[in-house]
Amino acid sequence: SIAHTNNSPVAAMKRDDHTRRIYCLQFHPEVAHTPEGTKILRNFVYEICGCKPTWTMQSYVETAVGQIREQVGKERVICALSGGVDSSVAAALTHRAIGDQLTCIFVDNGVLRTGERDQVEKTFASQLHLNLRILDGTKQFLADLKNVTDPERKRKIIGRQFIKHFEAESKKLKGIKYLVQGTLYPDVIESVSFKGPSATIKTHHNVGGLPARMRLKLIEPLRELFKDEVRVLGTELGVPDDIVWRQPFPGPGLAIRVLGAVTPERLAILRAAEGIVDQEIRSAGLYREIWQAFAVLLPIRTVGVMGDQRTYEHVIAIRAVTSVDGMTADWAEIPNDVLGRMSNRIINEVKGVNRVVYDISSKPPSTIEWE
Ligand code: XMP
Repeated sequence: SIAHTNNSPVAAMKRDDHTRRIYCLQFHPEVAHTPEGTKILRNFVYEICGCKPTWTMQSYVETAVGQIREQVGKERVICALSGGVDSSVAAALTHRAIGDQLTCIFVDNGVLRTGERDQVEKTFASQLHLNLRILDGTKQFLADLKNVTDPERKRKIIGRQFIKHFEAESKKLKGIKYLVQGTLYPDVIESVSFKGPSATIKTHHNVGGLPARMRLKLIEPLRELFKDEVRVLGTELGVPDDIVWRQPFPGPGLAIRVLGAVTPERLAILRAAEGIVDQEIRSAGLYREIWQAFAVLLPIRTVGVMGDQRTYEHVIAIRAVTSVDGMTADWAEIPNDVLGRMSNRIINEVKGVNRVVYDISSKPPSTIEWE
């Protein structure tokens, strides 16, 4: 077996035992992303443990569909759909298994990107024919976030409001027993202590107290998968490319990219900048190779000059990283001309911004999101 780093009995094992064929490999997800990491793991799993690479995504779908059907029976199921890859693929997989027994709920939390809600409606209701309910929580979310600057508080407030909306809507649907969540393996290890004392780095709003509170049983069909595997699974299920290849977007939305207080005015600035970063990354043909590219609005102003006038305005940071699963990340070496176009456009087109900076930190020790 492959032991977790924090699993001390294994970490304490000094050397391999060749006579009894007992070998020990200390595994940490970061290992897989070192130059020979995959080779080491492959050698251990195939040569030492004697496993065969017979696993396919098609067989995963069949197994998962069977398991969901067996688990659910004739009961009704709800899913919190965010429009991101994870919840979309989890919903599509569950829909494949149980069809109309599934209802999806999308909550507009007021901190979405431009056009996001419409895109979700079009894709899931019109194209994929899932039962979809859209709730508009803009007012309540923004009211609760007023004057809040602490990142963890923002995350908790959004999580709480989300639960409130979701709970109220699901009460209208009678006899719900199960909840589908697009929880991935990295969420499992970063957000809860998994076989060891890994610290809570950030409270992920999608692994919250929802199921216990609502007395729902969980269906988490992606729990053992990494992001790249989820994309393959989505394609296998016929989920459109623009969803399957969508860059990740955090549950707390733009609230954790507006550093400092979240106001409608500051959100509008960030949305406009975000749209430009997105367009330029796409038109440079970099969208798929970059894990995430986005804008962050900083809680400071800087001095600039326009004509012969002094300005004192906002700063936008551009964050772009490459990554395999979000557990580790490198800052992306975006060509200078692309960075230049983003910067010129943001400064010229977004009112109230006079400076753009590029974040050149990797994870660890930084994280991908700034909050
Ligand atoms: P960090 O900032 O921890 O982010 O390096 C790792 C990945 O997770 C995303 N992220 C979230 N996703 N709910 C989510 O579903 C959240 O609360 C959340 N916070 C961060 C982040 O965008 C990156 O892809």
